[in-house]
Amino acid sequence: MHFLREFPLTSFNSFGVAATARQFAAVTSEQDLMQWCAAHGDDTPPFLIGGGCNLLLTRDIEAPVLQLSLRGTRVVFDEGNTVLVEAMAGESWHPFVLWTLKQGLCGLENLSLIPGFVGAAPVQNIGAYGVEIAETLHSLMTINTQTGEPREFVNSECAFGYRDSVFKHGGDAMRDCYAITRVRFRLSRKFTPRIDYGDVKLELQNAAVVSPNAADVSRAVIAIRSRKLPDPAVIGNAGSFFKNPVVSAEIAASLKSQFADMPHYPAADGRVKIAAGWLIERAGWKGRRLSATSAAAVHDKHALVLVNHGGATGAELWALAQAVQADVFEKFGLMLEPEPRIV
Ligand code: EPU
Repeated sequence: MHFLREFPLTSFNSFGVAATARQFAAVTSEQDLMQWCAAHGDDTPPFLIGGGCNLLLTRDIEAPVLQLSLRGTRVVFDEGNTVLVEAMAGESWHPFVLWTLKQGLCGLENLSLIPGFVGAAPVQNIGAYGVEIAETLHSLMTINTQTGEPREFVNSECAFGYRDSVFKHGGDAMRDCYAITRVRFRLSRKFTPRIDYGDVKLELQNAAVVSPNAADVSRAVIAIRSRKLPDPAVIGNAGSFFKNPVVSAEIAASLKSQFADMPHYPAADGRVKIAAGWLIERAGWKGRRLSATSAAAVHDKHALVLVNHGGATGAELWALAQAVQADVFEKFGLMLEPEPRIV
């Protein structure tokens, strides 16, 4: 692998903040990665990045940065109704979703237009509009960065949860321990609509689509996301900055009695998921900055998203996030958990 020194990461994180990698290499072959990890991974654990879309850098990176740039998409087997497809980690997620739809395959349409790379998607079990990749992910291939050994994880070994997987357990050491190099999805030729999510239903109604197909759902999701969420190519951001807090039924009942209009959804084990975007907006943060001159802001169309209007530092964005966190805690007694990796 070819390492570059003092490499600027500004265009490798979707917040677009300035930070430097002491050493940086793009990984384009599993073989190269295995060899490098076997020789160096134990002494020099690397820092892994994909599309950099779920990352907030507040400092330079001393560890060697390996950017997973493996490319390729293929059908592994086709059983008629069920088709197993594989994408390499460095494929961009949204074009991959469009490719599956073009093959007549259903299952990923609700996940259209999510930024980032395929290899990063399982780490946080990306989800939108009532669907998570855990539902169609069949298995994934990894390389242990300390030993260079390949290891397959089948779905049940990934311990998927809400924005969670085994690759996040154990903190950053675990995230950097397994480099995900390829991901397989079990998709279907038969379309099962998943359009209960209010926004999607409404979007289809407004477009006068009566019996939607997978491409219609994808178009609806693209329209909603384009309206509500800032395009990282235009305004730096990492999507939702906080997870929606999941609380006990008792806490939810107490909050509901005080805030009748608070959006909430049933979660696993009788718990309740609260809309963090609503909490942040209600606390008065939508569109706000910590100071008039700061380029770090809460997005004015979706309060769950922090944005860099140009030139914000990672530290400024983190200070804003902490101020939001503290204020929401004071007003609602709920501690919001950041979703991106904070370095
Ligand atoms: N809301 C507000 N104010 C806001 C934003 C949202 O009141 O500024 C309210 C909305 O009106 C709605 C509720 O909060 O009643 C939920 O909002 P939305 O449908 O936009 O979804 P979300 O819970 O804020 C989650 C995901 C998004 C995903 C959407 C759609 C998380 C952390 N975020 O957001 O994922 O696109 O649902 O399914 O779970 C991401 O992870 O980067 C991301 C964008």
